[in-house]
Amino acid sequence: MPAVYAYAPGKVILTGEHAVVYGQPAIAAPVNEVRARASVEANPKAEPGSVFIIAPDIALKTSLADLPRDHPMVTVIQGVQNALGVKRLPALTLKVSSTIPIAAGLGSGAAISVAVSRALSAFLGSPLNDEEVSRLAFETDQYYHGTPSGIDNTVISFGMLVFFMKEQPIELLTNKRDFTLVIADTGEKSHTGEVVGELRQRVQKKSERYHVIFDQIGKLTLAARRAIEHGELNQLGKLFSDNHALLRQLDVSSEKLDLLVKVALDAGALGAKLSGAGQGGNMIALVNEQDAEKIASCLKSAGAVNTIITTIPKTI
Ligand code: MEV
Repeated sequence: MPAVYAYAPGKVILTGEHAVVYGQPAIAAPVNEVRARASVEANPKAEPGSVFIIAPDIALKTSLADLPRDHPMVTVIQGVQNALGVKRLPALTLKVSSTIPIAAGLGSGAAISVAVSRALSAFLGSPLNDEEVSRLAFETDQYYHGTPSGIDNTVISFGMLVFFMKEQPIELLTNKRDFTLVIADTGEKSHTGEVVGELRQRVQKKSERYHVIFDQIGKLTLAARRAIEHGELNQLGKLFSDNHALLRQLDVSSEKLDLLVKVALDAGALGAKLSGAGQGGNMIALVNEQDAEKIASCLKSAGAVNTIITTIPKTI
């Protein structure tokens, strides 16, 4: 049997990160310019049940049996087996690679889980659907993040612009106009679990103050949804920048994120903000398409280690 391949995109949060962990809505989009890839092929020379994993981007070259039981790769493979009722896997080799930068707010962990569960389930003859792979990626995200909201696994599994609220059915957003984002990487690591955990401690100390900010972010996300549905890009840009100001009040920005946001605005972006957990990782700028290259180059001159230009396509 030939190798079976599967892919999953990266993601950006357009509005609502952090507040979404506390029950507010958030909006996220897939980023198809970067992706995780998994391939599964039979290994006829090995004993049944032997699974070999080669994943250079996460420094893994090992037999599944040698990984700790709570390792995310074990969780996702076990999750696929449970979902399909497969007690023993045939001997196989799983190869994983990814162009999504790790700890950068672009969903690399969830994308790897999604690609692996898609490839493995297809190899076993019963491809899991988007909802099922999303559920498995949520379980592995709990390993990385502790208390994920579920937005990363959702947007990456469905590969569409989503309006997301915890424990609510997912809503795919109607987008009236194509819009272009410049995504710029500070090069500083953003460890979601840590940033979310530290914020939780601050919230526990000053609950009222933080819940006022979460409410404001929630309202802003509702306004961003309307702006996307009506193709009002100037308004959406303003909301990005307002969201960044609120994220600064949560103390999840960094000097470099603030600098890149300012540089993007000075270079003509319609709005800009950090994206994802923050304290490093990536920022996003909403731009007029014709300005995208120029703004990306200003961001690089200001110290961004990488930029991606992506277009979120209209859906009507
Ligand atoms: C991470 O991409 C987004 C956060 O809101 C965490 C989460 O929703 O799980 C910071």
